[in-house]
Amino acid sequence: MVSQAERTRLRELAAKAAEQAYAPYSKFRVGAALLLEDGAVVTGCNVENCSYRLTSCAEQGAIARAVAERGPGIRVRAVAVANLNDAASMPCGACRQTLSEFGEDAMLVLYPGEGGPMETTLGELLPHAFRAEYLG
Ligand code: THU
Repeated sequence: MVSQAERTRLRELAAKAAEQAYAPYSKFRVGAALLLEDGAVVTGCNVENCSYRLTSCAEQGAIARAVAERGPGIRVRAVAVANLNDAASMPCGACRQTLSEFGEDAMLVLYPGEGGPMETTLGELLPHAFRAEYLG
């Protein structure tokens, strides 16, 4: 169970992380905050590139940082996404797959919806994810 206080804190940390975004092309500054199983929170922001396709999303940056700092065994309980553009934004398709590598369908996903803060689960956003066990 992720408490209301933790949810609020995650959203705040995601917004704070978005302040570091490198987004000179889209001007869409995104932050993500991961709540790990041990209670640690790791954040990331989007980092764009002039070749456009090399852009790294905030969620991907947060996952890479979490693995680098805390090792390959990380498990994500919840993720909050925020942007500084007063826009709705939920994790893109690629980020959903990246998150699913490190968490369950029950992973809580907090994001800004069109009418305000929204909550869902990763399983709702990415049903039938491709899973490591399929590799045999
Ligand atoms: N972006 C993210 O950081 N996360 C998402 O889940 C969706 C999109 C970034 C990528 C790009 O830098 C900008 O938002 C506009 O697409």
